[in-house]
Amino acid sequence: MLILGIETSCDETSAAIVEKQDKQLILKSNVVASSLAIHKKTGGIIPENAAREQIKYILPVIKQSLREAFDTPDTFDTLDTLKNIDAIAVTYGPGLIGSLLVGVETAKTLSFVLDKPIIPVNHMVGHIYANWFMANGKWQMAKEETIRHTPYAIRFPAIALVVSGGHTDLLLMQDHGDLKLLGGTRDDAAGEAFDKIGRLLGLSYPAGPEIEKRAKLGDVKKFNFPRPLIGSDDYDFSFSGLKTAVLREVIKISGNKPLTPKPYNLNPNTINDICAAVQQAIIAVLIKKTLKAAKEYNVKSILLSGGVAANQTLKEQFELFAIRYLPYAKVFSPEKTLCTDNAAMIAAAAAYNFKPTPWKKLTANPELYF
Ligand code: KG4
Ligand code: ZN
Repeated sequence: MLILGIETSCDETSAAIVEKQDKQLILKSNVVASSLAIHKKTGGIIPENAAREQIKYILPVIKQSLREAFDTPDTFDTLDTLKNIDAIAVTYGPGLIGSLLVGVETAKTLSFVLDKPIIPVNHMVGHIYANWFMANGKWQMAKEETIRHTPYAIRFPAIALVVSGGHTDLLLMQDHGDLKLLGGTRDDAAGEAFDKIGRLLGLSYPAGPEIEKRAKLGDVKKFNFPRPLIGSDDYDFSFSGLKTAVLREVIKISGNKPLTPKPYNLNPNTINDICAAVQQAIIAVLIKKTLKAAKEYNVKSILLSGGVAANQTLKEQFELFAIRYLPYAKVFSPEKTLCTDNAAMIAAAAAYNFKPTPWKKLTANPELYF
């Protein structure tokens, strides 16, 4: 079965072609256009700007995903090629309403014109399914070698940690379609904490990747920031206190008065040290809570996902701690490009949860949760 995935929940416009053969997923194309450069200038996402860019990119991105998947150079005809697709999967929430609508309305139009089923996908569930594209070898995007298998099957029950810019959620997954939310963030998400702290430090948006780079150069022991809720009995998270602690420290060191003037007067080494300590505080909380849940539910797999899971230090530490404390559970994390928003993960989620909806009944839901 061939699925066209469409993802437009925030600032990435993405289309992918994914084939499901038995239990194997084959990624034929995954095209992502990002409007990040525009949002860097404003220091964050202005929803109307993001929606305008979605409209600009959606059709060229779908066309490119078909071109790459079907490898039809000169005689390429979009509508003819689209007839090869068996179903359309689209993100219908959560996200920014203006951005979501672009993908949802495009998917509905295609469903109507081509008479193909449409499968609505929860963006957060999509992130988890990026884990189903796994391989021993290197990620290949060369035309003949776009195949990625699942070398070790993901076995249930599993604990899924979704760490993105808008969410930090811990879920118990007993099977496909059987997800139970164990806990989530009470305030800022992990990615949001990276981004807000990065802004304090004068780093550009989104700050996660730069904090990771700087953390490698810094001394993790120079600062000791709080690790909120690390010992609590529940599976909730809270990162806004960490942001406040960093703000207090930055004001103290820089000698700047609170709120004015910015950027704070910090030397690059101090910024690196703060990055190292912040990253470690966030990772420590994520690992502690996830492994606690994995132990309680006696799971066989731990699935990391979302933009923050692109962080190499986080992946390495997760693997290290899991081997030490839960040797019977295997940690999975998607390839870096599949951690951040993409349509391949949306198509993958639809492939394992094939529940078509009549296009007339489909509406975008920005507040969708689990
Ligand atoms: O999943 P995603 O692409 O979009 C949402 O659905 O929110 O996640 C974006 C978030 C941003 O907050 C970004 O700072 C964070 O993921 N991020 C990282 C890294 N790469 C992206 N955080 C830490 N380390 C990274 N390497
Ligand atoms: Zn996302």
